[in-house]
Amino acid sequence: MNDVTLFEVGPRDGLQNEKTFVATDIKVDLINRLSNTGLKKIEATSFVSPKWVPQLADNADVMGAIEHVEGVTYSALTPNLKGFHAAIEAGVKEVAIFGAASESFSQKNINCSIIESIERFKPIMELAGEKNISVRGYVSCVTHCPYEGEVNPSQVVAVIEKLIDMGCYEVSLGDTIGQATPNKIKQLLERVMNVAPIDYFALHCHDTYGQALANIMAGLEMGVRTIDSSIAGLGGCPYAKGASGNVATEDVLYMLNGLGLHTGVEIDKIIDTAWFISNELGRAPNSKTSLVKR
Ligand code: HMG
Ligand code: MG
Repeated sequence: MNDVTLFEVGPRDGLQNEKTFVATDIKVDLINRLSNTGLKKIEATSFVSPKWVPQLADNADVMGAIEHVEGVTYSALTPNLKGFHAAIEAGVKEVAIFGAASESFSQKNINCSIIESIERFKPIMELAGEKNISVRGYVSCVTHCPYEGEVNPSQVVAVIEKLIDMGCYEVSLGDTIGQATPNKIKQLLERVMNVAPIDYFALHCHDTYGQALANIMAGLEMGVRTIDSSIAGLGGCPYAKGASGNVATEDVLYMLNGLGLHTGVEIDKIIDTAWFISNELGRAPNSKTSLVKR
């Protein structure tokens, strides 16, 4: 119970939201540096439509160029079969399907209803099973939606049930626009724990309102042991207006270290990597910890 997995989403969730295209060799350098920090899970890119997310149009080139360090999983988002096939061809061994608890967000993000998205995921799950590919599930808008406001936990539970029935090994609960507060996270986790044991769930907190660390602490108290985070606090969602970056990996790691929870990740290397990508992007890291250790 003292081990926590940090699931690094910066190269995907972070870079998908940059205003200008980040060069492929910088992405590759970033992922290689992250691979050297002790992280075991790195979300490297997305196989989505380049018209929707041009920032990650170099998905296959990135996957082809990175060093594949033993023991590190490099995953990618796949919204449909087309993306899944492209990901497999590029050598991806773990994919993520991503749905939402709110209809409007589902439409804006993946251009279909929640029910339609589940239908699109089914053939991915079947093929993934045949090819021995692990599939992670995401649910966005677990407490708030940028278009519909507060989201009822029952809507979240309905999607989670489907994703777990379909065979996702883990479901990441996305506070897409960072509006959750710790009480909401606890209430949500109480509900989802009726669907599956707590170790099926990860927390994916954006930090728009500065609540992410408090929300993660609430999750840790409830037994969550996988936390999504983003190097230098990069990120947001292009289809969620106002969503700022994920909680910074270095800030979560600082807290976990202080709590005596073990990740195997070296904080100095994470801070160096945060400064590397921030320098490339021409700004300071969006992280208190990295700012102290300049
Ligand atoms: P669509 O337009 O409805 O798809 O988009 P379509 O099937 O009608 O195809 C239209 C065109 O896209 C066709 O090309 C397809 O070939 C192409 P055309 O004939 O016009 O030249 N296409 C693709 N190309 C490459 N890869 C593919 C692919 N699929 C179709 N996989 C689609 C539907 C899902 C593709 C689109 O809406 C899309 O790509 N959405 C992605 C949005 C996205 O990536 N959002 C950010 C990630 S989610 C997130 O950040 C939240 C999360 O972090 C958790 C949280 O914070 O809550 C995970
Ligand atoms: Mg996100």
